[in-house]
Amino acid sequence: MVQIAPSILSADFLHLENSVDLVNRHADMFHLDIMDGVFVPNISYGFPIVDAIATKAEKPMDAHLMIIRPENYVERFSRSGVSMLSFHLNATETPDSVIDMIHRSGMKAGVAINPDIPVESLFPYLDRCDYVLLMSVFAGFGGQKFIEETYGRLVSLKSEITGRGLSCLIEVDGGVSGKNAAALAAAGADILVAGSAVFKSDDPAGVISSMR
Ligand code: DX5
Ligand code: ZN
Repeated sequence: MVQIAPSILSADFLHLENSVDLVNRHADMFHLDIMDGVFVPNISYGFPIVDAIATKAEKPMDAHLMIIRPENYVERFSRSGVSMLSFHLNATETPDSVIDMIHRSGMKAGVAINPDIPVESLFPYLDRCDYVLLMSVFAGFGGQKFIEETYGRLVSLKSEITGRGLSCLIEVDGGVSGKNAAALAAAGADILVAGSAVFKSDDPAGVISSMR
């Protein structure tokens, strides 16, 4: 069964508690997009927001780091109560040690790649991380159009994971909605991130259940 991760990036920041409440019982996890204005050309939010969400979230927090040198912040995200932490493969010179740090901090480790990075570059990490995050738009902004080439990449990644008998999950992020959720799950996605599809809708809970 596919898991649904609403992205807080598209929530109503003036009424964040309300946004969390709207999806709390329906979501499988909360997806938190952390951007530093350096690795990606946008700045999102930081620890005050993550800590506030932590007080209300009844589901695990899944933080997606779009920041350079993620190793500097692993411990801090763990202290905020994050249970899944992903970083971009090309944001650090030491991906293996970042995975180890995440595990030592008691979190699940994910490795993320943008659409222009070959999926094969994830292969050396598939037996060490808990999930991979396959971007289906270029990281940096919510509300972008889904890139169709993601399907082929997803199929290749899934066949490598199943062929090697691994348990690494695949999270797909960007432009995901009720229109492509079923096809993505069929192609091998285990976790679907959805920001604008959920929070720009009049019925966020309904969108989540239809995606599921
Ligand atoms: C983009 C983020 C996504 C974003 C998805 O850099 O990683 O998680 O919030 O937003 P939608 O679902 O609107 O494409
Ligand atoms: Zn994300």
